[in-house]
Amino acid sequence: MDTPLAGKTCIVTGATNGIGEVTAQALAQMGATVIGVGRSPARCADSAARIKAATGNAQVEYVVADLSVQGQVRRLADEIKARHSRIDVLVNNAGMYFSTRQTSPDGIEMTWALNLLNYFLLTNLLLDALKAAPAARVVSVSSGAHEGAKQINFADPEFKTGYSGWTAYNQSKLANVQFTYELARRLAGTRVTANALHPGFVATGFGHNNGGLMGVGMKIAQRVGARPPKGRRRAFTWPVHPKWKA
Ligand SMILES: NC(=O)c1ccc[n+]([C@@H]2O[C@H](COP(=O)([O-])OP(=O)(O)OC[C@H]3O[C@@H](n4cnc5c(N)ncnc54)[C@H](OP(=O)(O)O)[C@@H]3O)[C@@H](O)[C@H]2O)c1
Repeated sequence: MDTPLAGKTCIVTGATNGIGEVTAQALAQMGATVIGVGRSPARCADSAARIKAATGNAQVEYVVADLSVQGQVRRLADEIKARHSRIDVLVNNAGMYFSTRQTSPDGIEMTWALNLLNYFLLTNLLLDALKAAPAARVVSVSSGAHEGAKQINFADPEFKTGYSGWTAYNQSKLANVQFTYELARRLAGTRVTANALHPGFVATGFGHNNGGLMGVGMKIAQRVGARPPKGRRRAFTWPVHPKWKA
């Protein structure tokens, strides 16, 4: 078996479904020690078992954390750092679309809490462990939908007034890109790189959390989406789009 990532430790958030799970599996297939993150103990156990069975790699562990809750992001980072002094790859992937405005247990609008603040907080909490690796990378899963947002609504980033699911989602994905550019600037001269990507349109569980027309419409639209493994291959081969300027 070809294991170019043997000895490397890779974290994938949102690794119980869709793009995150196939990414975790691909990394395990290449011999990495994989730490998957999900919010459901049962789905974490299922994904870990599936990946171990498919790859034969026993170095696959899952940690349960609801990444929309900042206390759980902090506890997750502490747990990972207690077991691993060095992180080679952090894939910030857990993200969702909310057709109606919802708030996290911290009282923060969910799209902003999960799609942006979670990436920002987890990355910063793990920076020392990333810097301890010989060549680490932070990979943040954004979306081509970021082009639908012209700027961050700094006056009201949580859309306390005028909430629309797509406006909030597009803004969060633009924020992923801007976070990546600023992180890259701050990490210049270190051995850690910051990367963002659009995976293409992939048939996953994305949007299924929404009821009504949106949930049904997403399931129908996804019949033409790429299967997750193809999306993963795209994700790891597409260069950053030239329009993705901070
Ligand atoms: N699919 C596409 O066409 C597409 C296109 C562009 C960008 N993206 C981006 O790709 C990323 C992955 O999406 P996907 O399409 O793979 O969606 P998905 O199939 O719905 O997977 C999302 C993953 O995130 C996890 N998650 C959701 N909320 C969480 C929370 N509060 N705490 C911890 N984990 C949580 C989910 O866990 P559960 O198993 O518990 O639900 C699941 O493992 C997202 O950032 C999305 O914006 C997707």
